Amino acid sequence: MENLNWSELGFGYIKTDYNVRCYYRDGKWGELEVSSSEIINIHMAATCLHYGQESFEGLKAFRGKDGKIRVFRMDENAKRMQSSSRGIKMAELPVEMFEEAVRKVVKLNERFVPPYESGAALYIRPLMIGLGAQVGVKPAPEYMFMIFVTPVGPYFKGGFQPSKVCVLREYDRAAPNGTGTIKVGGNYAASLVAGEIAHSKGYAAVLYLDPKEKKYLDECGPANFFGIRGNSYITPQSHSILPSITNKSLQQLAEDMGLTVERRPVPFEEIATFDEAAECGTAAVIAPISQIDDLDENKSFVIAKDGKPGPVCEKLYHKLRASSMATSRILTDGSRSLNNIFCFVRTGVRSVFTRQNTLIGNC
Ligand code: PLP
Ligand code: COI
Repeated sequence: MENLNWSELGFGYIKTDYNVRCYYRDGKWGELEVSSSEIINIHMAATCLHYGQESFEGLKAFRGKDGKIRVFRMDENAKRMQSSSRGIKMAELPVEMFEEAVRKVVKLNERFVPPYESGAALYIRPLMIGLGAQVGVKPAPEYMFMIFVTPVGPYFKGGFQPSKVCVLREYDRAAPNGTGTIKVGGNYAASLVAGEIAHSKGYAAVLYLDPKEKKYLDECGPANFFGIRGNSYITPQSHSILPSITNKSLQQLAEDMGLTVERRPVPFEEIATFDEAAECGTAAVIAPISQIDDLDENKSFVIAKDGKPGPVCEKLYHKLRASSMATSRILTDGSRSLNNIFCFVRTGVRSVFTRQNTLIGNC
């Protein structure tokens, strides 16, 4: 295994050995290619450079106590990437090709998968871009799909320590019926100004309100939002947020813990009633929120009065990590395993999911 200071890793880029690439030409996807170059050579008139034909994904591989490497719910990322392709008129990559590419790139970079319980993971970054020389505004004739991997630690500096977020009504990351529900680069470019303002004022992220009425909670920087009140797990339903795979898992785990899950429009004022709140996502995992500052109205909502993560967030965090590493309950998919090192994890402590993420049994 690579000799890195795993527990000190931040969320940055570290060179690994290989990436994988695949081209869509003449209406079909070609063979998966392996490259050791970090460079891509593309035409200056490619649509990804001018018209934003670009989508990406983010998922993680973990090493379990048994030494096996597990990838968390990659079929969900594959399907979300297809939805991104439909949203910006790119070619759709079949789920099986996405999964094969993930298996291959992780296997090739196995020495960068952090040790069990090091607090780090191998971050897997698939992306797709429109290629081919073109100046008219129309979909590209060719596409490239690629995946690189890099070992990472926590996305937010404090990791699981609560941090402050702010509301800035002047900025939206996506339009009401725009591209918020898909994972395209433009959404992230649109979030940079507000994000930098928030960071410069000492906030971890912007808590966006719905772009149409500014009445409801949307999501939080590069992560979904959830609040805990009493026995309820409350998370926004909106036409402008990314459907988070982590949030979906947390909703299942919350139900398993006996909580009631409410996925609905959440009026902004409701934050005053939350016992706990957090951001959640692949990179963020669960990042508890200590305080929400409304910078327009000059109001502060303190969520974590003692500055510590709340008990429900803490329990969810441990259950999520356990299900990602699956120390005890795993669902293996032998037919798709590569040299028996891959298991596809769909499990909470009690819940076992099929590849389609439907509950098939409790253990
Ligand atoms: N929301 C946004 C805007 C994101 O970029 C991400 C990260 O992928 C999420 C939410 C969390 O989604 P997931 O849990 O699938 O990583
Ligand atoms: C992830 O959580 O994987 C993301 O894609 C967030 C990213 C923008 C850092």
